[in-house]
Amino acid sequence: MHKRVRTAVFPVAGLGTRFLPATKAMPKEMLTVVDRPLIQYAVDEAREAGIEHFVFVTGRNKSVIEDHFDRQFELETTLELRGKTQALEELRKDLPSAGRTSFTRQQEPLGLGHAVWCARELVGDQPFALLLPDMIFKNKPGVLKQMMEAYEVLGGNVIAVEEVNPAEVSSYGIVGRGEGPDSGFAITTMVEKPKPADAPSNLMISGRYIIQPEIFSLLAEGVRGAGGEIQITDAMQTLLKSQKFSGVKYEGRVFDCGSKIGFLTANVAFALDRDDIRDGFLEELKKLKIDINH
Ligand code: G1P
Repeated sequence: MHKRVRTAVFPVAGLGTRFLPATKAMPKEMLTVVDRPLIQYAVDEAREAGIEHFVFVTGRNKSVIEDHFDRQFELETTLELRGKTQALEELRKDLPSAGRTSFTRQQEPLGLGHAVWCARELVGDQPFALLLPDMIFKNKPGVLKQMMEAYEVLGGNVIAVEEVNPAEVSSYGIVGRGEGPDSGFAITTMVEKPKPADAPSNLMISGRYIIQPEIFSLLAEGVRGAGGEIQITDAMQTLLKSQKFSGVKYEGRVFDCGSKIGFLTANVAFALDRDDIRDGFLEELKKLKIDINH
């Protein structure tokens, strides 16, 4: 029996420079795909996978994320008075229960590895899930849930991966694939943002991880990697010498909402998936007379 994963870490301290001016005063994690902010998709996925404690590593300008996961009495009272019970129920359903969220700050933008290290006191000596809110999925069951199933069998560390176009490997962390099925294969190596010629495969790390707490002492060393930043991938590569890492190549695909094209594609895909929006949206798209062959 492997130690249960109860806590999830959400790094939300990034500056969101790729979405300026939208993100000048608003955190990029609050950008909406249809009508839900990116961070809500990641939190929903974590809850579905059985996560009980939600740790947010925030930065300046991010207090609205804390507000988003709080009750909003004025709004709730107004909805109640207007008889909008369904909207009210939906709002309440989205909230983690009281005392289940924690917030800490990454005081300097030193990289993803450093952001995760900032959560060490809140996570403690237990395995944890790491979800990068830029990356969202439409999969059912969710990707983290699929990974939990692999973790229950394999233990150790688990990383979700997806094939990317070989020309794009230098935008992501890439893993080398060893023995085993798509539902849990051995990872042989990991490298952050390799040049295409140096990439061990085209399997990218797609922003969902289950990690053992020994990662924290490695992150504490503060070794700088790709882009001069403290990289989680580098610390995992060191941990690979003493611990097992398994890859889960999930069904479905990721929408990389850290890029404008990924974000816009996610909006289209999620909108077309909604019964209340699909038909009207398709009508409007038809009017645009888009020739998708060009
Ligand atoms: C981070 C990780 C990278 C991963 C990517 C997924 O990179 O370092 O390994 O593939 O997220 O989005 P970033 O997007 O922060 O540059």
